[in-house]
Amino acid sequence: MRLKDKVAIITGAASGIGRAIAERYTAEGARVVIADLNVKSAEEVAQQLGNRAFSAEFNVTSQESIDRLVATVVEKAGRIDILVNNAGIFAMAPIVEVTRDQWHKLFAVNAEGKFFTMQAVAKQMIKQGHGGKIINLASQAGRRGEALVSVYCASKAVVISITQSAGLALIKNGINVNAIAPGVVDTPFWEFVDREFARYENRPIGETKRMVGAAVPYGRMANPQDLTGMAVFLATEDADYIVGQTYGVDGGNWLA
Ligand SMILES: NC(=O)c1ccc[n+]([C@@H]2O[C@H](COP(=O)([O-])OP(=O)(O)OC[C@H]3O[C@@H](n4cnc5c(N)ncnc54)[C@H](O)[C@@H]3O)[C@@H](O)[C@H]2O)c1
Repeated sequence: MRLKDKVAIITGAASGIGRAIAERYTAEGARVVIADLNVKSAEEVAQQLGNRAFSAEFNVTSQESIDRLVATVVEKAGRIDILVNNAGIFAMAPIVEVTRDQWHKLFAVNAEGKFFTMQAVAKQMIKQGHGGKIINLASQAGRRGEALVSVYCASKAVVISITQSAGLALIKNGINVNAIAPGVVDTPFWEFVDREFARYENRPIGETKRMVGAAVPYGRMANPQDLTGMAVFLATEDADYIVGQTYGVDGGNWLA
């Protein structure tokens, strides 16, 4: 067991990648907090994982909710060792149709929400005095713009940048901040992406998903479990010397 008795908050863990990481972390001996806007699904996931998990109602766009999450976890579990800063949303539109509302919604969750969750947990880790691990979920979309996906791509470029800055700032406190950049992962998120591409590019439902899967050098889309090995590694002492990096776990889609 590589994470025995570590206390890990995983945001957005009611679904997809966050859920798979929560399952894997539990199997590695961690105590996990399923923090999600979708309270019902978060409770179901926590129940399925047993007494090493509990759920917490959490909205990454609210500072009050972020502060409450940190306080609740400290009260219930005594400390925070790991943050998987995963909650994220998607939207797309042609450049000339992007609205300010779409920009603000995406940035509130994917950029601002991730930054201030990271900040609140870092403050707690500094207070505890024995370091910690913070893992942000970026995306291959943060490496390169896309014609129809400008705002999401920009919000993920922010994640790569704040991972670097926080990595440099917090390593003196023994806190490693790194990120994972998935490629295309078969989760409810991608069902939505597929429907949006179908709408904007006039394709049948399922066609975009099939095409992007076939284009991955590995030969298929990722499933959420494909992301969990890196999420475990970055949370262990084996990653102590790794600072501010963003790792592609994308089947070969992006080569730096
Ligand atoms: N699926 C992919 O292909 C893919 C690719 C690259 C990066 N990512 C990133 O990985 C992360 C997880 O994606 P996923 O595919 O598992 O998505 P998902 O939609 O399956 O799960 C996202 C979870 O985040 C929660 N969430 C949404 N808004 C929230 C908020 N305001 N506060 C708290 N929780 C909120 C949702 O309730 C949901 O449970 C995201 O950051 C996403 O951008 C996904």
